[in-house]
Amino acid sequence: MATPTHTPVLLSESMDLLQPRDGGIYCDATVGLGGHAEALLARSGPKGRLVGVDRDPAALEVASRRLARFGDRVILRHGELQDVVEILEELGLVGGDAPGIDGLLADLGVSSLQLERPERGFSFRESGPLDMRMDSEGGQPAGTLLASLTEAELAGVLRRYGEQPASRRVARAIKRYLDEEAAPDTVGLARAVAGAVGTRRRTGAVHPATRAFMAIRIAVNDELGQLERFLERFVGCLAPGARVAVITFHSLEDRLVKRRFARLSRPASDAPADLPLTEAQRGRSLAELLTRRPLRPGPQELATNPRARSAKLRGLCWLGEVAA
Ligand SMILES: C[S@@+](CC[C@H](N)C(=O)[O-])C[C@H]1O[C@@H](n2cnc3c(N)ncnc32)[C@H](O)[C@@H]1O
Repeated sequence: MATPTHTPVLLSESMDLLQPRDGGIYCDATVGLGGHAEALLARSGPKGRLVGVDRDPAALEVASRRLARFGDRVILRHGELQDVVEILEELGLVGGDAPGIDGLLADLGVSSLQLERPERGFSFRESGPLDMRMDSEGGQPAGTLLASLTEAELAGVLRRYGEQPASRRVARAIKRYLDEEAAPDTVGLARAVAGAVGTRRRTGAVHPATRAFMAIRIAVNDELGQLERFLERFVGCLAPGARVAVITFHSLEDRLVKRRFARLSRPASDAPADLPLTEAQRGRSLAELLTRRPLRPGPQELATNPRARSAKLRGLCWLGEVAA
């Protein structure tokens, strides 16, 4: 099978925010197919290092081929965004006498690899199983999750994560489809959703099942829970002066990032109670916002990469140190 390509979103903007330095240590917490990681390595001089994490083993395989030329400057790990600090601790880059890392990137959402392989179950353009797991080695596939939810619970998922119009009707249609179909697949599921949405509510070129598929994918992968736990913990791996960039594709994700970054950039006396602070750190800010408003792709990027449409990039510079 040909090596899939994934055009990195907001690449130059994220590099401008992260400002990779010679010999710096970086972590790409959602390394995907390695596009952003490659740029970080290329900009951090011959001694710059990068740890790339992803929950998708297939993505890591592609990233390892793409980044092979950087040799032992790259370490790839199968793992979850929420566990990034522990992964860096296990590698000896954080904790104890280790200085922490100089930059951290999270580019959320799905990769082209996931979207374009029908057998992964993310796409309704070609028939695939009801799977949608980013980590094909763990967790519940979409079919199992859908079967376990009541109609009302499913309607809640569709509303909350997909802002799905007529969510009750769509949930009912999905449950009926699963009950009646002996071998359900993504194309059939999309057809059931489209039938329930009805022609009146269809807008423009977007397929009527797009919102429902996004909502189910977010629930299958606990994407908001992962992001919340990452945001609670990520400062634990940063060296003073480290820069962080997060790219989101969903308004609920962006809101979580915006709130946490704003909270961290207030004076330390007002910082979250869970941060262990030294006396010296009180009264000053622990972090500086690098983006008051999120950065969005420009017309040129949108013209060549429609997937960037909903992307938002926020940045933060960590000033403080978390006391041991
Ligand atoms: C948009 S792609 C990243 C693309 C990458 N920046 C590039 O340039 O190739 C998002 C990646 O994040 C991974 N991912 C999403 N949520 C994750 C999580 N909670 N933990 C680990 N990986 C995650 C997905 O498996 C996917 O490979």
